[in-house]
Amino acid sequence: MREIPAPVRGAHGLPVLGQLLDYARDPQALFERQWTTYGAVSPLRVAGRHRWAMLLGADALEAVFTNRDKAFANQPAWSYLVGPFFHGGLMLLDFEEHHLHRRILQQAFTRDRLEGYTARVHPAVARGVASWEPGRDFRAYPALKALTLDIAADIFMGGAEHTSPQQMDRVNRAFIDCVQAATSVVRMPVPPGRWWRGHRGRRLLEEFLRSYLPERRASETPDLLSQLCHVRSEDGEGLTDDQVVDHMVFLMMAAHDTSTITLSTMLELLGKHPDWQERCRAESRALGGQPSLAELDTLTSLDLVMRECLRLRAPVPVVVRKAVRETVVLGHRIPEGTFLMVSPQFTHLQPELWDDPHRFDPERFGPERREDKRHRHAWDPFGGGVHKCLGLFFAGAEVKAVMHHLLRRFEWRVDPDYTAPLDNHSLPFPVDGQPVDLYPLGGHR
Ligand code: HEM
Repeated sequence: MREIPAPVRGAHGLPVLGQLLDYARDPQALFERQWTTYGAVSPLRVAGRHRWAMLLGADALEAVFTNRDKAFANQPAWSYLVGPFFHGGLMLLDFEEHHLHRRILQQAFTRDRLEGYTARVHPAVARGVASWEPGRDFRAYPALKALTLDIAADIFMGGAEHTSPQQMDRVNRAFIDCVQAATSVVRMPVPPGRWWRGHRGRRLLEEFLRSYLPERRASETPDLLSQLCHVRSEDGEGLTDDQVVDHMVFLMMAAHDTSTITLSTMLELLGKHPDWQERCRAESRALGGQPSLAELDTLTSLDLVMRECLRLRAPVPVVVRKAVRETVVLGHRIPEGTFLMVSPQFTHLQPELWDDPHRFDPERFGPERREDKRHRHAWDPFGGGVHKCLGLFFAGAEVKAVMHHLLRRFEWRVDPDYTAPLDNHSLPFPVDGQPVDLYPLGGHR
């Protein structure tokens, strides 16, 4: 059995900050360097006192997601990055407790529920998009972010009826602050640092959600917040107010940040590939304005494009784990206490698994080629194993419903030489707001 390799001289980032800064600068370059220098299991230097390793490649993903000997835990690893802001969220629970809460939350994601949510997404998108002012250099990313937060508020909270648009902007800012706190170098609540802004954001989110609890406890409605207020385990136990708030903060973050990234990547790539945009539009035109969940499933070109965008720019490029007991991965001993960074994004771009991996080529997911079937973990934008994304079908329906509206209402172009400059401090987002030339269909330019 081998040990995690010793660091090669000069390949270990800056003193103090370690390789987190390399990651923020260019995650793919860091993955490739680690892979070519060490292979699937490599040492990683991250500020702080913990030992870290990076696991790369589809076989490593399989080992972590299968977690055969229950050696890998989520809570201590994700808590290290985002604990003060997302504690108690499903992704930050482990083993028995995770299983129990996942079963409760699953009740809110059945096919019937998704059908109901999809019906509510359409009017929310129509309302949101009505305020857009299309034109040259339309900043797609902030517009999509506000839209997906409104959708999440509507579907998960039954509408935030007592919250003004200005307050909603503050809520959006609070989510951003919580997510971005993940990579603070200074992990102390000192103003105006990221960590401090994350704490301030969490307090605001708690107040916002708690203000809706009494009403949702009083009567049961179809939204997730109300469902969490009324749900009971087999022995009649309900969730406390704190548990409801913890789940909601995490779910609303998970539900709007990742979908926004997916949508903005789709806008960018469809803007650069008008042939695909036209192909998707033709399918959308064949459907009505408010397609059901089953009808959204017939948008096959849009589905191929979504998969390809999730491959090229995974909204969650890495997941983290902590080895809570010693284990072995691909012949390497992983000592108890090791923190692990595991990257689905790296696998998505491996030439061993994908033809011309950096090329936008949605047909690679088509029935003739199915490149994603080359390994069970070749394409893992939603993770895998017991922590696999709970919202993946909702995400697919939401993204397609939003795109369906945009395709029927607008056409857009993006310079083929443009590539979104990404901020990788937390989930990747375009720092320039993702400009696209957006025009009403058939309108004047
Ligand atoms: C394109 C959109 C999305 C992507 C790429 C995505 C990705 C992921 C990934 C990679 C994980 C696994 C994290 C880990 O293993 O540590 C995860 C977990 C999770 N996601 Fe998503 N997600 C998306 C949308 C959503 C939406 C819309 C919701 C809610 C409606 C959601 C709720 C969750 C929850 C609750 C978990 C934790 C599951 C568990 O630990 O059991 N996600 N997501």
